[in-house]
Amino acid sequence: MILETPSLTLRPFTPADADALTKNANDRRVWANLRDRFPHPYTRADAEAWIAHCAQAQPAEALAIVVDGEAAGAIGLERFGDVHRCTAEIGYWLGAAYWGRGLATEAVRALTRVGFEQLGLERIQAGIFDWNGASSRVLEKAGYAFEARMRRHVVKDGRVGDVLLYARVREDAGAAQDGARR
Ligand SMILES: CC(C)(COP(=O)(O)OP(=O)(O)OC[C@H]1O[C@@H](n2cnc3c(N)ncnc32)[C@H](O)[C@@H]1OP(=O)(O)O)[C@@H](O)C(=O)NCCC(=O)NCCS
Repeated sequence: MILETPSLTLRPFTPADADALTKNANDRRVWANLRDRFPHPYTRADAEAWIAHCAQAQPAEALAIVVDGEAAGAIGLERFGDVHRCTAEIGYWLGAAYWGRGLATEAVRALTRVGFEQLGLERIQAGIFDWNGASSRVLEKAGYAFEARMRRHVVKDGRVGDVLLYARVREDAGAAQDGARR
């Protein structure tokens, strides 16, 4: 899957992304807002393992956010199972050098559209650590609604915090209708 938007490309990772991925991911400010399964420090071996993992994943599960030819970050849709199979969690990060240019919003908008129009999703959601105002703003700009504050739902870097649940559903303005089988 390859998605082109005015400022970036979303495409599968390739082995040639390992150096850029290591450089952009190896940042405590990025790690501080993601699950602990995202390594820190982030080594070249971590990048290689991630790229190998992505080669086995579903197409929209793990895409590189490519800006000016460099893998600047990642974005993906992780589908739930069983009765929640038409829901996915969206996750994303960008290297700090790329922050503040509207890039994450552009990437989230593009992948959200694909989720509804091509993947048959009914709902896309994200849980944001309550100290992450930039990510809440990204989701709001991409048409997600704040649904709930899950109190004391995260322990990160020795700190307990709330998680803010944001979601967008197919019916929300702009989401395409389709007759996908589910
Ligand atoms: C969150 C992240 C993806 C945002 O990327 P980005 O490309 O800078 O985002 P955008 O430029 O599209 O939008 C950021 C918005 O947040 C705003 N913002 C930045 N810092 C903020 C803060 N501390 N509080 C509130 N809003 C903030 C910006 O002003 C901008 O809003 P605006 O366009 O209305 O001015 C990036 O900071 C990142 O990768 N962080 C680490 C990993 C992470 O948090 N991932 C998401 C986990 S849910």
